[in-house]
Amino acid sequence: MNIGIIGSGYGGAVAALRLAEQGYDVDVIEMGVDWETMPKKNGLVFTKMTAPNERSMWFKTKTQMPFGRLFDIPLIDKNIGWGAGVLDVENFGFMNVYLGHGVGGGSLVNGGMAVVPRQSYFRKILPQIDAGEMFAKYFPRANDTLGVAEPPRDIIGASKYYNFARVAANQAVKAGFQTAFVPNVYDWDYMRQESFNNVERSALNGQVIFGNDHGKKTLPKTYWAKAKATGKVHLKPLTEVLSITQNPDNTFTLKTKTIDFDGRVLKNEELTYDRLIMAAGSIGTSKLLVRAKNTGTIKNLPNETGKRWGPNGNVMVARNMGTATGVYQAGIPAMGVTNWDDSPNSVFAEIAPFPAGIELKTGLYLAITENPTLGEFTWNGADQSVGLNWTQQMSAPSVAAAKAFMEKMNAANRGTSNRSDLFEDNKAFSDYFSYHPLGGMIIGEATDLNGEVKGVPNLFVMDGSLIPGRIGVNPFVTITALAERNIDKLISARKFG
Ligand code: FDA
Repeated sequence: MNIGIIGSGYGGAVAALRLAEQGYDVDVIEMGVDWETMPKKNGLVFTKMTAPNERSMWFKTKTQMPFGRLFDIPLIDKNIGWGAGVLDVENFGFMNVYLGHGVGGGSLVNGGMAVVPRQSYFRKILPQIDAGEMFAKYFPRANDTLGVAEPPRDIIGASKYYNFARVAANQAVKAGFQTAFVPNVYDWDYMRQESFNNVERSALNGQVIFGNDHGKKTLPKTYWAKAKATGKVHLKPLTEVLSITQNPDNTFTLKTKTIDFDGRVLKNEELTYDRLIMAAGSIGTSKLLVRAKNTGTIKNLPNETGKRWGPNGNVMVARNMGTATGVYQAGIPAMGVTNWDDSPNSVFAEIAPFPAGIELKTGLYLAITENPTLGEFTWNGADQSVGLNWTQQMSAPSVAAAKAFMEKMNAANRGTSNRSDLFEDNKAFSDYFSYHPLGGMIIGEATDLNGEVKGVPNLFVMDGSLIPGRIGVNPFVTITALAERNIDKLISARKFG
């Protein structure tokens, strides 16, 4: 049995580990770098936020941060070299979606916030899945294998690196909101040692969305370490799947392109698999399958292919805090403001760091809102490209919730206000952006209830594209737990022989 997995983020890592443990050999095709093999440059594998280079972004000449401006001047984005860097942004009209590339996918660039959704909301969004089983079995398994831990109070409550979080939490309490310590995959003992200068610094050295050298338990340190130890996993980094063709015997042939770090093409190959697992993320999987449907290379892909996509209600908002938030800020978020009752103004706001190295008196929040609007991927026959229909109007419910949140915060805290010099068009928020793309191949709609694509035997989906557009919290724990559930059921059903 010849098994291929496209993508090495959460879905791919779970599938590879659990299949390898059962004795199956798996190929993992990943378009990004295997960063564990990357030599250090200037003493680091990845870069700090304030000193990006060609390793920071995927083939760009300039960084593209979600907030590129400061004092209305484009001060934040910096010119960088050209290379297969770790953070990508896909620009689709009115939606910029941020993604991680490399072995480990989004785990390489994300904030590590590891949040289990409220069970009632999970039931609302995924009624087709047995929530009782998920919460009793698969969420605990995901948290355990990912190495999730509560932030310790001695660090968050006292360290100068978390002053920004304490200031924001105090203001939220004054506004009548609840605050929460948010679990994370960062090794908090390591952070304690960082603060004593006993170890090389990472989160306390301004590392976050361009990768993290130490401390964060990324997938290469958890799932991939275990999967590699089986000797059954064969990684093909810097190899992008360009197209998928279903053969008459229900095997799949992939056209791939392997590059070096600078983007030079080293080889083009065709790889054939008996079983194919799509784990290229909501955007990567949807793009490949929308292409296959419209070019006819996979027959019988369901009409639900590429449908019901959403940005998890993401809005980035910024406030003038009227007081110092700290020159020194840890790169890892640890607190959130919770105002969630499923009503339209529900917000779960991550208190995000802004490790700019100067005092900005700024509060930055990644607000997750309750936006029921869903978009879909589109096919442009003229240039054979996949697009995404997401308009400004579709973000309106998220903007309304974010504005209500900001107004309440500002009214309760004298001397504070919205900060409108960071984002485009003098807005105090970014409504054209997502860190949390979800949907495109919804479980129970485009796939059966275990992730096998309807009408296409031997083709499975195992990533964030299974979840219809939103989950009310940061999504990687849900993606991991759902993948744990699906691979369990697929192995039991002997889908891999
Ligand atoms: P994921 O995107 O992880 O993996 C897909 C992989 O497939 C990638 O490695 C990609 O390179 C590869 N790929 C794509 N197309 C391919 C092709 N054609 N050929 C070969 N390989 C291909 N979530 C959270 O819960 N807590 C948090 O704190 C954060 N913070 C955060 C910050 C930032 C900056 C970002 C960008 C994202 C987050 N997230 C987050 C989101 C989280 O990282 C995201 O939801 C998951 O990584 C998605 O997991 P998947 O397995 O779906 O895909």
